Amino acid sequence: MTKESWKSTLGFVLAAIGSAVGLANIWRFPYIMGTYGGGAFLIVYVLFLVLLGYPMISLEVWAGAWTQRGPRGAFETIASNKTWGRVGLATVGTGFIISAFYSMVCGWILYYLVQSLFSLEFYSVDNSFWSHYFQQLLNSPEILLTYHFAILCICALILMKGVKKGLEWASRWMVPLLIVLLSLLAIQGCFLQGGIKGALFVLTPNWQALNAEGVLTALGQAFFTLSLGQGTMITYGSYLQRKSNICRLCFPIVLMDTVISLLSAVAVFSVVFAFGLEPNSGEGLIFMTLPLAFQQMAFGKYLFIAFLLLVLIAAVSSEISALEPSVNYLVQEKKLPRKKASLLTCLGAFILGIPFTLSFSTPFLQTASGENLFSIVSFIVLSFVVPLGALAILHLVFWNKRFTFIYEVLGLDQSSSLPRLKRVLQWYLKFCLFLLAPLLIGLIFLSPLWT
Ligand code: PHE
Repeated sequence: MTKESWKSTLGFVLAAIGSAVGLANIWRFPYIMGTYGGGAFLIVYVLFLVLLGYPMISLEVWAGAWTQRGPRGAFETIASNKTWGRVGLATVGTGFIISAFYSMVCGWILYYLVQSLFSLEFYSVDNSFWSHYFQQLLNSPEILLTYHFAILCICALILMKGVKKGLEWASRWMVPLLIVLLSLLAIQGCFLQGGIKGALFVLTPNWQALNAEGVLTALGQAFFTLSLGQGTMITYGSYLQRKSNICRLCFPIVLMDTVISLLSAVAVFSVVFAFGLEPNSGEGLIFMTLPLAFQQMAFGKYLFIAFLLLVLIAAVSSEISALEPSVNYLVQEKKLPRKKASLLTCLGAFILGIPFTLSFSTPFLQTASGENLFSIVSFIVLSFVVPLGALAILHLVFWNKRFTFIYEVLGLDQSSSLPRLKRVLQWYLKFCLFLLAPLLIGLIFLSPLWT
C-alpha cells in the first residue's frame, strides 16, 4: 500500500486552514472579543498566537512530516519506545471524542439551514420564537440524532475518497467559499445603519474590560482554534514530504485563522449593533440572537441562509480533521482499506455521539445543578485532555529530537550554515517552545479555576 500524501503544499495549507477555522472562530471569537475589550483582547490573543500557537502548530506538523506517520507512530518513532506510542494513540482518541460531540453541533446548524431553506416562516415570528425553537430542537433527540447522522455521512463521503481526492479536494472549494461568504457578510453588515459602529466597537481597544479571565480566555482560544493537542496537525503533517519548510507552511494557516476570526467579529457585531441586540455567547448567538437581526433585514432570510452555510462549511471541514487521525490509525496501523476505515470511524463517532444527543432531554444524563453530559465531557476534554496531548508531544520532542527539530522545521540540513534570519527564528522557536510553552500550557490547565 503506498502512503497517502497531499497533491501540493497548497492543498495541505488549505486543509489545515479548514481544520483550524471552525466554530471557535465564528461563534466564540466574536463574543469573547466583544466581552473582553475588543482590540485589547485582540492584541493579547495575537501575542499568544505568536508565543504559543504558531510554534506549537509547527512542532506538531513537523512531528508528522519527520516521522511520516500518524500520532501513534509519530510518538513511538520520536521516543523510540512503544509505551509512548500508546500516548500517541490516546491523542487520536481525544480527537475522536471531540468529533462525536462536534458533529452533533454541526447537526444543529444543518437543521437550521434545512429548515430555513424549506419550511420556516422566517419573517412572521415574534421575539421569543427563536429561543423556544432552539430549546425545542435540543429536546427532540430524534431530530438531533438524524442530523448528527447526516453530518457524519457527509464526512464519511469525503474521508472515504482519501487525502487528495477527499480532504484536499473538499478544502480547495470549502475554504475559498467560506472566505468569500464571510467577507460579503462583513461588508454588508458595515453598510447597515449603525453597523459600522459595531465593527468599530469590536476593534477599538478597551483595556479596562480586559481582566485576568480575558487573558486566559485568549490563551485557550489561541490553542483550541489551531486544532492542537489531539492528533490532527500531526496527521496532516504526515501527508507532507519529509523535508518541507514547515515554518513557512504554517504561517499562512495561523494568519488566515486570525483574519477569519476578525471578519466574523465584524460581521456579527455590525449586525448585532445595527439592530440593538445583546451579543450572546456560543450557541445563543447563532441560534437565538442573529436570527432576530436577519429577520428584520431586507433579504434577511437569504443572508441568514448564507451565514448558516458558511458556518456549516467551517464546522464540517473541522469535523473531518477531528476524524482523520482515527481513519489514519486504522489505515496505517491496522491495515484497513481507506473506505472501511472511514465508515468505521464515522459509525463509531455516531454511536459515541448518541449519549450527547440524548443528554439535553434525559434527566439521567444530567447533574443536579443542570449540567448535562455534553457540557461536562466537552469541558473536561477541551480544558484538560487536549492540553495534556500537546504537553506530551512537546516533552517528547524536547527530550529526544530538539536539535533535529530546530533545524528541520526551518527546512534546513544540520550541516548548513545559518543565515541570520533563520538564526533569529531558531532562537525564537527555542525560547517559545522549550521555555514558554510548558508554562503557558500549564496556565491553560489552571484557567478553569479562574474562568
Ligand atoms: N479548530 C476548530 C475550531 O476552531 C476546533 C477543532 C479542534 C476541530 C480540534 C477539530 C479538531 O472550531
